[in-house]
Amino acid sequence: MSSREIRLVSRPNGMPTTANFTLAQVELDPLHDQQVLVRNLFMSVDPYMRGRMNEGKSYVPPFELGKPLEGGAVGEVIESRAAGFKPGDAVTSNCGWREYFIASPKELRPVSRGVQPLSVYLGALGMTGMTAWVGLNLVEVKAGDVVFISGAAGAVGNVAGQLSKLRGCRVIGSAGSMEKVMLLREECGFDIAFDYKVGPVVEQLNLEAPDGIDVYFDNVGGETLEAALSTLRVHGRIIACGGISGYNESKPRPGPSNLFNMITKRLTMKGFIVRDWLDRQGEFDEEVGGLLRAGKLKNKETVVRGVGQAVAAFIGLFEGKNVGKMVVKLN
Ligand SMILES: NC(=O)c1ccc[n+]([C@@H]2O[C@H](COP(=O)([O-])OP(=O)(O)OC[C@H]3O[C@@H](n4cnc5c(N)ncnc54)[C@H](OP(=O)(O)O)[C@@H]3O)[C@@H](O)[C@H]2O)c1
Repeated sequence: MSSREIRLVSRPNGMPTTANFTLAQVELDPLHDQQVLVRNLFMSVDPYMRGRMNEGKSYVPPFELGKPLEGGAVGEVIESRAAGFKPGDAVTSNCGWREYFIASPKELRPVSRGVQPLSVYLGALGMTGMTAWVGLNLVEVKAGDVVFISGAAGAVGNVAGQLSKLRGCRVIGSAGSMEKVMLLREECGFDIAFDYKVGPVVEQLNLEAPDGIDVYFDNVGGETLEAALSTLRVHGRIIACGGISGYNESKPRPGPSNLFNMITKRLTMKGFIVRDWLDRQGEFDEEVGGLLRAGKLKNKETVVRGVGQAVAAFIGLFEGKNVGKMVVKLN
């Protein structure tokens, strides 16, 4: 059996280009005992993968040149020589960026086929949905809080906004186009949304939240973090989730010029990495899965087709081409 996979061939300098990647064909070995053959149905592309394309120490090791990339995926079992897995079972794994793969049972997590489309396991019920949920719990977001979310139309942002609304918060979002702003207001229940590209963020935020905000869910960093620091109320909280505005910078940018607000306003800023919270997976599945099944939470996604389009989908994250979770459908 042959499979196609995407490999990193050179480390990007700034914005990644298609020249940094190659599509390779590989032959898979016959299955041994305790192995499962999986066909990926959907794979995830995520902003954090950009960091893994750089050399150097981080919270996850860098991707190796000449090797297939890795990442979240959901697929179906084609053949199994391991107890507990049979053809047709749906499984999630970290073996994305390829069409087929052979895995040991511990690399696979069985999921229900009752949830459709299965790409939901990469979005609202997947790593990004869990990131939104963990972030809100981290600073105990509660009814009455005014919550501002950047990257609001993205995978983490739109779920964070919907969950905040369900908790009884007033929710403000920023995103990079009027189309996204409309979606946030009309389909995701945000009270207010604005396009961060049309004017200084601090001016737009002060206009929309003249009395300040209680919580800032930071997905982008940079100018938006600086604006939030100036708009947060006394004892405000910041969820430090991501900083995509700086991921393609070759040198770190200077931090916010107004960090002194942390002191004068007695702010709290908490960073986290979602995978440190995997012991809460069951609780997340129950709460957020329940909301999804009850129709109270929507899974938003942008679907790109074919492993050959995976690199374009990944680069598209930095160009704002996605609404909700960016996924690649493999066939
Ligand atoms: N801490 C954790 O464990 C954890 C886990 C998952 C994700 N994250 C972080 O959470 C953030 C969101 O991730 P995601 O998976 O949900 O991605 P996403 O928001 O679905 O996709 C990226 C979005 O970022 C926006 N963007 C791109 N360049 C930007 C820039 N220069 N300034 C402002 N916005 C920009 C684009 O939307 P616009 O059109 O609005 O610009 C784009 O659609 C990322 O920073 C990611 O690294 C953290």
